[in-house]
Amino acid sequence: LSLPEYGLYRYPHLSEGACLIATPDNPFSPNFGAEPLFLAGRADVLDAVQRVSLNLARRDYSRATIIVGQRGTGKTVLLNQTEELAEQQGWVVVRCTASRGFLQRLVSTQLPNLLAELRPGRPITTSATLGGGPVPGSITVTSAPGHPVARGFVEYVAEICDALGPRRGLLFAVDEVNSASRAELESFAGGYQQLVGREGRNVALVMCGAHSALRRMLAGPSAMSFLARAQQIAIGILTYPVTIEAFRRTIQARGTKTAAQPVLELMAAISKGYPYLIQEVGYLAWDHRPAGDEPGGDEITLDDVRAIAPRALAAMRDAVLGVILRDVRGRYRAALTLIAQHPEIRTAELAARLSIPTTSVGDIHLRLIDGGLLARTAERGVVRITIPYLADFLATDDSALARGDDEQVRALDSFPEV
Ligand SMILES: Nc1ncnc2c1ncn2[C@@H]1O[C@H](COP(=O)(O)OP(=O)(O)O)[C@@H](O)[C@H]1O
Ligand SMILES: [Mg+2]
Repeated sequence: LSLPEYGLYRYPHLSEGACLIATPDNPFSPNFGAEPLFLAGRADVLDAVQRVSLNLARRDYSRATIIVGQRGTGKTVLLNQTEELAEQQGWVVVRCTASRGFLQRLVSTQLPNLLAELRPGRPITTSATLGGGPVPGSITVTSAPGHPVARGFVEYVAEICDALGPRRGLLFAVDEVNSASRAELESFAGGYQQLVGREGRNVALVMCGAHSALRRMLAGPSAMSFLARAQQIAIGILTYPVTIEAFRRTIQARGTKTAAQPVLELMAAISKGYPYLIQEVGYLAWDHRPAGDEPGGDEITLDDVRAIAPRALAAMRDAVLGVILRDVRGRYRAALTLIAQHPEIRTAELAARLSIPTTSVGDIHLRLIDGGLLARTAERGVVRITIPYLADFLATDDSALARGDDEQVRALDSFPEV
């Protein structure tokens, strides 16, 4: 996207005529999937991925890792890092997003292409194991009951592994696992399980997904429980010192502007360590006054940061909080709103307010904790909202999403009758 488009896309709430003055050297990148100039923290995550997944020496293990985190916490970025790390070590990486049809795309396009690259000039023999004949253009995925493994998937991967030899492996880097269809993911998991288990192939798997729906999907018998047993790494906000460092290093890396310690601290405090918000706050603060335009334009000041804070939080609401809340409905939403409005609220009162039995509150708590929205506190029955600004958002304005609809209605009404 070009910069004006970027501004329009991201800030639909800016009033008419307002525009973002974007300097081309802005080192912050508030875009989903965009590599941050400085990747803050996460060494522990990459270390775990290295030990568990990128480790051919382990034969007793599934070499499967799943990174779980809310939207905007940096899952895709970590998958990019993993890919880079793996390639440096000689792995061949197959990257995909688990949207509908991903397995079909793997089997019909990505894996055959990879094989052709690895064995230039050699005919692909996989078709032989599929019943002879030339490789069909579209090998269909069977997800018939009792036969959940994708046809062709195992055969292609096995042949790729043969081509790679004993010292190299094939890594699957799968993003947005929560968006997959259950049958398809099960098919993939079944195939992977066979490859890493019975066949002892040099394969590895790193997956990413948002909390919502993911745990529910991984539950139950079958190949999914195999995925559920993968090493799970939860990611979330960064600590205050790491966040300050993120701002310092990002600004330093570009070098055309500076920010004093109190300014770094204020930016960190506003971002609350939420990776997406770090980028958003930094981006807006950097651009608040173009460098060289006025004296001191090469310095980010406390006033700059204070001035952009509301816009950064509005972007957080639109791009992150609103999206997370889309998946929280009914009594779960009602409970979450009550907890936001009354942080000290206890089980009994929550039950009374929602007109449900006290025993059901435990279930609601559990689901919201599983969803990465709540955490227990030391005090029995009292929980805390764990996503920055979500409580404020819910407590002050649970109708914010509905307001979008009103705007639509107003827009609709603005047209003359034909
Ligand atoms: N460790 C990090 N340090 C700094 N910025 C980060 C970090 N991880 C992610 N970001 C930034 O946060 C935003 C969201 O990252 P992304 O990987 O798209 O999140 P997710 O895939 O979890 O939704 C991007 O702008 C990215 O540059
Ligand atoms: Mg992502």
